[in-house]
Formats: sequence, C-alpha cells, structure tokens
Amino acid sequence: MWCFSLQRRYLHSSLCLMKNLKSKTPAEQRWLQRQLKDPYVKASQQQNYRCRSAFKLLEIDDKFRLLQPGYSVVDCGAAPGAWSQVAVQRVNSAGTAPESPHGTVIGVDLLNIPPLDGAHFLSSHDVTDPATHAKLLELLPDGRAHVILSDMAPNASGFREMDHEKLIVMCLSLIDLAEKILQPGGSLLCKYWDGTLTHKLQERLSSVFSSVRTLKPNASRKDSAERYFFARMYRKTGKQS
Ligand SMILES: C[S@@+](CC[C@H](N)C(=O)[O-])C[C@H]1O[C@@H](n2cnc3c(N)ncnc32)[C@H](O)[C@@H]1O
Repeated sequence: MWCFSLQRRYLHSSLCLMKNLKSKTPAEQRWLQRQLKDPYVKASQQQNYRCRSAFKLLEIDDKFRLLQPGYSVVDCGAAPGAWSQVAVQRVNSAGTAPESPHGTVIGVDLLNIPPLDGAHFLSSHDVTDPATHAKLLELLPDGRAHVILSDMAPNASGFREMDHEKLIVMCLSLIDLAEKILQPGGSLLCKYWDGTLTHKLQERLSSVFSSVRTLKPNASRKDSAERYFFARMYRKTGKQS
C-alpha cells in the first residue's frame, strides 16, 4: 500500500511536502494535498497512530464496545498496524492496566508489520491461506478469538467492480477463518467496498451471526465506497477443526 509508506515518508513535514509537490504526478499531488487537509491524518500524527484508519476503529469501538480487556483479537490486513495499536490499548494486551485482564492481539498481513508492544505479528502471511489459519490456532489462547477484525484490502486496480468483487471474496474467506477460530458469541468487523455482491456477503454473514449491521464511520471518507459489516453473536456451525 503505497499510501501508507508515503504517509510516513512525507507527512513528517508539511513544509517539505509543499516544496516537493511539483515533482509529483498529478494523482500523487491530489493525494498529498488531501492528506495535508485531513484532520484525521493530523490527529494520527499527534496521537502516534501509524495511520488515520485508527480513528475508524476507535469510533466503532467507542460506540459498540467490541474490544474488552482480556479479549483475544485477530487483526487481518494489519499493516502498518494502527488497528492493532487500538486493539492493544483496548484489550490490554501490553498489560498497561495491571488490574485489568490481559488480552491478546495477533496481526496478519502480506506485508511487513513493524513490531508493536503487546501484539504478535504474522508478517508475510496470507489471511486466506489455511496454513495461516493453523498458525493462528496455535497462537491464540485456547485456539479461540473473541473478535476478528479485517481492514484488508487488495491493491486497487482502479476498476471499481473488479476491486469490489476481489474484496468480497476476501471477506467471504473470513467466514472460513471464523469457523476455525472464532468462539461462539464472538464478533467480526470487516471492511468491504460496496457494490453488486454486497448482499451475498451480508447473507453469508447473517447465516452464521445473529446480528449484522452496516457501518460507515465518520473517519471513512465520504466519497469512498468503503463500508464495514459488524457481525455479532457468532453461531458455531460445527465445521471447525
Ligand atoms: C488498508 S490496509 C490496513 C490498515 C490497517 N488496518 C491499519 O490500521 O494499519 C490493508 C492491508 O490489507 C493487506 N492485505 C491484503 N490482502 C491480504 C491478505 N490476503 N492477507 C493478509 N493481508 C492482506 C494489505 O497488505 C494491506 O496492508
């Protein structure tokens, strides 16, 4: 995801950025100018989050309290690690609140995820690969997660329908992962790009979760097709390994 490396490379100094703007392609210039104006980008720098997406999860968790101290969380598509930072704080996996239960955070990504206190990262791992599922089973306490988070996204091709379909297939694979690791009553929060197959994903989620709702946090850009399904009360299907 070039946007995250660019964010880290360029956003340390707005001044330097403006000087560099002329050497960028028009698309890069538009992206950089949007980043400079974005209050969530500024806030993520001030609060030491690895990227602005942290605020989407903070907003969702403030409203629905899906992350509780002591919970085990699997963060799919975790790089560069902002959602994991939020999860570590909320489930107390770094033990910063000694009086509260300690949770577990495991992040998975195809890319490298820089280390984070309180999180165990599986870099260079594909969430859709059964070998990754097997590793998660080994790493999770009792082989069970309370929550699966997914902010996964394929590299966008620019063809909206094709990208939508790819991401729906990735989200559907999370239902297989849930069968293996999600405990009964557990939750799944997954990003998708809205499109013609959205209802298929919603139907599949509704077949195994008692409650499925669509979320569009304020931190999610208004002009983007990005949405989240928040599925709660997992009903085990009995197919898990
Ligand atoms: C939008 S970024 C996630 C940002 C992250 N939530 C954060 O807050 O730092 C999407 C990530 O999904 C990852 N990804 C895409 N397909 C994947 C797959 N099959 N397995 C694991 N990660 C994947 C990408 O490498 C990318 O890092």
